[in-house]
Amino acid sequence: MMKKAEWGRRQLKSHESTHSETLAIEVTKLTKTFENKNAVSNLTFKVKSGGFFGLLGPNGAGKTSSINMMSSMLRPSSGEVKLFGMNVNSKPLEIRKIIGLVFQDSSLDRQLSVWENLRFAGMLHNLPMCQITDNAEKLLNLFNLNDKKNKPVRTLSGGQRRALDVARGVIHSPKILFLDEPTIGLDLPTRLRLWEFIHELRVLSGMTVLLTTHYLEEASGCTAVAFLKEGKLVLEGAPNELTSSLCSNVLEIESPKMNKIFGELTAQFGIGKQKFRTAYINLKKHEGFNLSSKLDQIKEKFGSDLTKVIVRPPNLNDVFLWIN
Ligand SMILES: Nc1ncnc2c1ncn2[C@@H]1O[C@H](COP(=O)(O)OP(=O)(O)O)[C@@H](O)[C@H]1O
Ligand SMILES: [Mg+2]
Repeated sequence: MMKKAEWGRRQLKSHESTHSETLAIEVTKLTKTFENKNAVSNLTFKVKSGGFFGLLGPNGAGKTSSINMMSSMLRPSSGEVKLFGMNVNSKPLEIRKIIGLVFQDSSLDRQLSVWENLRFAGMLHNLPMCQITDNAEKLLNLFNLNDKKNKPVRTLSGGQRRALDVARGVIHSPKILFLDEPTIGLDLPTRLRLWEFIHELRVLSGMTVLLTTHYLEEASGCTAVAFLKEGKLVLEGAPNELTSSLCSNVLEIESPKMNKIFGELTAQFGIGKQKFRTAYINLKKHEGFNLSSKLDQIKEKFGSDLTKVIVRPPNLNDVFLWIN
């Protein structure tokens, strides 16, 4: 059986020469209108070869419509998508050879075994059987699914099924992988494990990955993210740049009486947002006040009304809060 690192070395050889400045995905003024309403509006962004791009936004933001247009499954109302310089709509057959697609809803056959699902997917891509066997073995090894190889998919856990969905999507070694909400509905440890698998796959293969998620905290490992709101791109950048340009720390205070005390908190600490019972206050590096003595004052004044007071680094959820 081939070890992960061995596969990595082999795969790396094949993409060592990839120029990091090559554009894998180029989306220009992409628009989709359904029944007079724009699901996607004037979307423009680029992803470099080997990039790990996160398209973020709540339900209904236009993520699936965008991914469907990028992968030639849905015709745009206007605008265009190029993958490695090829126009998606004028060359759909060529495009489908170089992309892998994992839908929001699983496309596995639950009655077939893990191996049978992979073999079927490989045959759809016209791969020779030896290549299907070889790739399936590497992927089952990478995704820790070896001992499930001959088990029917219906006996797998949710996380294992999702991992198999990803394996199925890359059986033909695509250059670009599109993942639509790969971790939706999974518990946190399973989500993290699947992210590790995807990350490992990306590092080993050099594949460009574009994924959508509404679990924003997951996307901190992306090389770049774009926030979609009602079909429009509202903010784009590297996660650490977006978070560090927001503030240096977030003061998070929770209280059942937040409606009453929020005004005083912002008067004391500066700019903040309230979401239900929680205040999120952006702290800059040099606030010009002593944070711990101010916190002591607040605790003294509101004491038992405060259920949580923490200071932590900003994350993508904080960024999202400020663009809404
Ligand atoms: N086939 C369709 N017909 C009509 N409206 C659609 C269709 N597909 C998506 N929409 C609408 O487009 C918007 C964006 O949907 P979608 O791309 O599925 O968002 P997301 O994946 O971010 O949840 C939603 O308002 C949705 O109702
Ligand atoms: Mg969706």
